[in-house]
Amino acid sequence: MYTRLAEGIFLLMNPLQKLYQLLKINYWFKFSMEVFNVKKYFWAPHVHWRNENNHIIINDFQFRGKVVELFPDIYFHFQKGISLSEIYVIFKDFNPKILKMFLKDLIRNRVLVCNVSTPTELFETQNKFVYQEYDDEFFLYKENIESYKKKQLTRFMSKNTLQSIDLEECSDLPSLVQNRKSTRNFDTSKMMNFSKFSRLLNVFKQSPIQEGIKYFYPSAGGLYPVNIYLYIKDGRVENLEEGIYFYNPHSHSINLLNRVKLAEKKYHYFINHSAFNTSNFSIFFTLDCDVIMPKYKGAGYYYGILECGVMSATLANIAEYFDVGSCSIGEIDFDKIKDEFNLNSNEIYLHSVEVGLKNKEVNH
Ligand SMILES: Cc1cc2nc3c(=O)[nH]c(=O)nc-3n(C[C@H](O)[C@H](O)[C@H](O)COP(=O)(O)O)c2cc1C
Repeated sequence: MYTRLAEGIFLLMNPLQKLYQLLKINYWFKFSMEVFNVKKYFWAPHVHWRNENNHIIINDFQFRGKVVELFPDIYFHFQKGISLSEIYVIFKDFNPKILKMFLKDLIRNRVLVCNVSTPTELFETQNKFVYQEYDDEFFLYKENIESYKKKQLTRFMSKNTLQSIDLEECSDLPSLVQNRKSTRNFDTSKMMNFSKFSRLLNVFKQSPIQEGIKYFYPSAGGLYPVNIYLYIKDGRVENLEEGIYFYNPHSHSINLLNRVKLAEKKYHYFINHSAFNTSNFSIFFTLDCDVIMPKYKGAGYYYGILECGVMSATLANIAEYFDVGSCSIGEIDFDKIKDEFNLNSNEIYLHSVEVGLKNKEVNH
């Protein structure tokens, strides 16, 4: 019903061509979705609930009292996807104040969602399938990490095969491949000059060719759904002020989004402090699911992650070519800085890389 109302608004707007052009249909669509509560919410696929002794337990949260009566019906509605206005109609006999507060709580904690899950949300559901013989503390000790790593890197020997054929060795791979290694301690005594910085980012630009547009790395369907943001630190790149920039591959330009001191937000875990504190700038890769998922559905999400890996590897090699260091950072607390990026609702953070001048005094 509300969708019809929203459509009605659009129809009404149609004759008002000038106004229509000025205000953009997209804006009005989003606006009417908010005002009339027609946005569909879903129960987040990674969130489970159960009823234990008349308490509803949803992940780490416990609810008791009146809201227990809402289950399981409310769950089935959100599992299919439903707007809040429709929920208020269905549960019209329920105390509206309590219902509103409860729904607000579920939305705030991402139990009810209206956009794609983050990789963390998606993949944490897989943990239970992996046999876990190590306790939580195991990976806190250096010697344990080393022995675990050694075991994994020699795992190929135990594979049962029919025949083994030795391949020819090549000792003259290009140095950008051979010498690449992660850098975690950059040279803080110099700023990166603008020319080096610009040349490095050439690896991500579009190049016009006769058949259209070309990139220097592959992408599923040539859609290039991974966006690039940079955080330039204060006084670390020549002629650039501190802040978050968006890289535009079409114009090969960086565009200031936000004058912010990200360094103060403490979003890095302890193990990565050295890399972050000494780098000249950080690169953030995000995936715009609205670009790739209409064509490839769920696989598009997966292709986007693969593409981000390809981009990080290409960057690491090209950085080595320009004698610049880089280090992939697996985990950051992106929620602490997310609002500074102004991402689209289906644009998710994937990965970041610290980049900087090599410190010739130390190994890495
Ligand atoms: C997806 C990914 C995440 C990584 N996360 C981190 C990280 O959080 N901190 C770090 O110091 N190195 C990180 N690394 C770098 C690896 O530790 C490094 O590549 C590995 O130890 C091999 O060493 P090398 O790159 O010097 O050859 C990451 C690498 C990848 C590909």
